[in-house]
Amino acid sequence: MSENSRMPQFPEPFWRDYVSLPSFPKLEDSISVDVGIVGGGITGITAAYLLAKENVKVAVLDAGVILNGTTGHTTAKITAQHGLIYDELMQHFGIEKTSLYYDACKEAKQLIEHLVEKHDIDCEYKKEDAYIFTDAKAYISQLETEKKAYEKLKIDSELVDDIPLDVSTKSALIMKNQAQFHPLKYLKVLVEQCVENGVQFYEQTTAVDVEYNKHPSIITRDGKRVTCRYVIQASHYPFYDGQGFYPTRMYPERSYIIAVKSDKKFPGGMYINAEKPTRSVRGARIKGEDLWLIVGENHKTGQGKSTMKHYEALQKYADQHFGINEFAYRWSAQDLTTLDKVPYIGPVTKAQQSVFVATGFRKWGMTNGTIAAKHITDMILDNDTPYQDLYSPARFQADPAIKKFTTTNADVAKHLIKGKLEYTENNIDKLTPDDATVTRINGKRTGVYKDKDNNLHALDTTCQHLGCEVHWNSGDRTWDCPCHGSRYSYTGEVIEGPAKRPLNKVDIE
Ligand code: FES
Repeated sequence: MSENSRMPQFPEPFWRDYVSLPSFPKLEDSISVDVGIVGGGITGITAAYLLAKENVKVAVLDAGVILNGTTGHTTAKITAQHGLIYDELMQHFGIEKTSLYYDACKEAKQLIEHLVEKHDIDCEYKKEDAYIFTDAKAYISQLETEKKAYEKLKIDSELVDDIPLDVSTKSALIMKNQAQFHPLKYLKVLVEQCVENGVQFYEQTTAVDVEYNKHPSIITRDGKRVTCRYVIQASHYPFYDGQGFYPTRMYPERSYIIAVKSDKKFPGGMYINAEKPTRSVRGARIKGEDLWLIVGENHKTGQGKSTMKHYEALQKYADQHFGINEFAYRWSAQDLTTLDKVPYIGPVTKAQQSVFVATGFRKWGMTNGTIAAKHITDMILDNDTPYQDLYSPARFQADPAIKKFTTTNADVAKHLIKGKLEYTENNIDKLTPDDATVTRINGKRTGVYKDKDNNLHALDTTCQHLGCEVHWNSGDRTWDCPCHGSRYSYTGEVIEGPAKRPLNKVDIE
């Protein structure tokens, strides 16, 4: 194996490497605005942009730095082809709502395209066909059924038996005229536009609660207050649940992405297979060269095999089908799926109409995030929006929600109990640098990571959300919770919620 084709030691998304983003201060004083947005990803920034254009006074808070959450780790496909979804949605919701779901994706794509043109954004926006392909006989009929759903929805599509990728294929369903782009190059310009229009951005500012007086106020971890008329939670996992019981109605999944160079020219198109394990492929450009992005290996957060094995499986796939001459990047992403696979976008509960959530985008954050921003800003601006019933977080669809609700929460209960009973008497003396183990210290389950300089970082592994036990993620050097997907750095800081507080440190001297 050549030096270039070795896996990079540290995870790093490709998107951030070639874009210099502005940085913003921490919120140091309480402020008052019309709309407080929590989360500086595609949803929060697009909403801020749309509101500021209408002279609404907006502040955006981010717990870390903007565009470093799910948006910074995406594959950036702008497509309505969200896997095999349309026949399933028709079975559960009927044709009218399924058609609305498709319209929403189309509207999101049109809005992105419009903004790219309007601001002349150089973000590698490119029309591409999207393919779902299969090499498994069992899925051929599913693609045929999905094609019939496309026809009912009048989606421009075609069923073929070969694809431009060098991958064995029995059948593929094409959705024509979709798109891809460089999400950070696009959003950087929207951020600049926001700043020009008076939007205030604050980084390293963690929102922990919402309080109501006459109007809602966002409360930060440092006790600062953002008083506003409306709050938009665009923070992936809602930081404020408002007794909407979101942890019982969504589950988190991780997936892995590698970016490699090959001697083969990327043939165009965006691809995802129908069967498991998932393999999704798209191209990108880096300094005039093709980059192949290969995605897959999804699993529930904190419940996979050793994380490096997932990257290795993608590496093997890429090498086998495309040939790797340079392994440029690897990174992972986390996505949330709702009980019926349709995002929750709207008021956090029926009783709290001025606090919005936008979550549960599955793996399709570019379209779902954009339409979430448009739909919520339309509600705030009192514009008509056709999507209220479809996306309402308060909806309840007996099928498949009940079944999924039961399995999701049984799974959480299983992990809550299993983590507490686990035998954990590993010896930290045997730890090698850059490795971690779980042991008991003074009877307490403790996670210990030894860094490259032989420093030990010991943490109480009890998740600060609802008390499940976190597990080591060797690929990203994080502690991940199997229950609702909170993730912590090896020093215990929250990387992803719903947890709001860091893991407790354990003294091992
Ligand atoms: Fe809910 Fe850990 S994320 S218990």
